[in-house]
Amino acid sequence: MHGDRRTPVTVIGLGSMGTALAETFVSAGHPTAVWNRTAAKAAPLVAKGARHLPSIEDAVNASPLVITCLTTFEDTRTALEPAVASLHGRALVTLNSGSPAGARETDAWATGHGARFLAGAVKNVPSAVGAPDTLLYYSGDRTVFEEFASTLRVLGGDTVHLGDETDLAALYEMAVGATLLPALVGFFQGAAAVQARGLEVTSMVRFSGKWLDMIKSLLPVYAEEIDSGDYSDAASSVNLFLSGAAHDADLTRETNVDTAWLTPMHDLVKRAAEMGYGEHSIAALTEVLRKPERAA
Ligand SMILES: NC(=O)c1ccc[n+]([C@@H]2O[C@H](COP(=O)([O-])OP(=O)(O)OC[C@H]3O[C@@H](n4cnc5c(N)ncnc54)[C@H](OP(=O)(O)O)[C@@H]3O)[C@@H](O)[C@H]2O)c1
Repeated sequence: MHGDRRTPVTVIGLGSMGTALAETFVSAGHPTAVWNRTAAKAAPLVAKGARHLPSIEDAVNASPLVITCLTTFEDTRTALEPAVASLHGRALVTLNSGSPAGARETDAWATGHGARFLAGAVKNVPSAVGAPDTLLYYSGDRTVFEEFASTLRVLGGDTVHLGDETDLAALYEMAVGATLLPALVGFFQGAAAVQARGLEVTSMVRFSGKWLDMIKSLLPVYAEEIDSGDYSDAASSVNLFLSGAAHDADLTRETNVDTAWLTPMHDLVKRAAEMGYGEHSIAALTEVLRKPERAA
């Protein structure tokens, strides 16, 4: 809030995530201006109290804080191009996914047009926007974060500024997000195997949840091993994972479920063993991923 008025916000990009962002601002009482390339997507938000501006320049001019949620950094720059003259002095916050390089490029582009720039990332699904434990992180111009912290916190109670380097949010977005696809594909493989036996996938959800809790509990242990470079105290060794690899082919024969997506991961395990990490912690795979020349 600025004084006793809620800060006006402009949300550019009304896909699944942008719509959730705009809805949350409207619900929290922020005057919310919206723009989308396909204008029709603004109608449900207007019905809830948002103000649709057909011109992106007018949308940028409507608020001191402009939040974009387009597909990529490049899309963001392209869409904002007709409004660059209006960016001067305004706070521009991106909330799309993208690489650290994309964030740096957009920082240079935005600050080149006189904007104050913050790059952010929403670490959750649209339906979680606005919840007290929803995580969003930001990096870049700290004055923007500090000035608009209470407004940004409307989008999620776990709102963090990672540092002044603009690309940190994108780096953490990619680093933390790296588990998503392997974890989900693993769940889908298990689901298909259970179904192949005529069982409901819902029957395994509780167990999969506990499994993920167990993995979560190991992350601090592995992080310390990786930070110290000492993998010698192995609770689960590389060789243990190596011996488990053969079971995948057995499962495929039995259930006809494709487990080939795991082959490159088994190759990483094999390379770690070849590098001398067989009896070391599975976290030594980080050394294989990092660079083979750092081998034990
Ligand atoms: N959905 C999620 O679960 C989720 C979670 C975390 C992060 N994110 C990130 O949030 C960002 C948006 O995701 P989303 O799910 O909202 O995607 P989406 O539903 O596909 O919406 C994409 C939005 O970008 C706009 N857009 C794309 N290219 C454009 C261009 N060149 N010019 C103007 N507008 C353009 C689209 O406009 P039109 O409507 O005109 O096509 C639409 O508003 C992505 O970077 C995504 O990775 C999404």
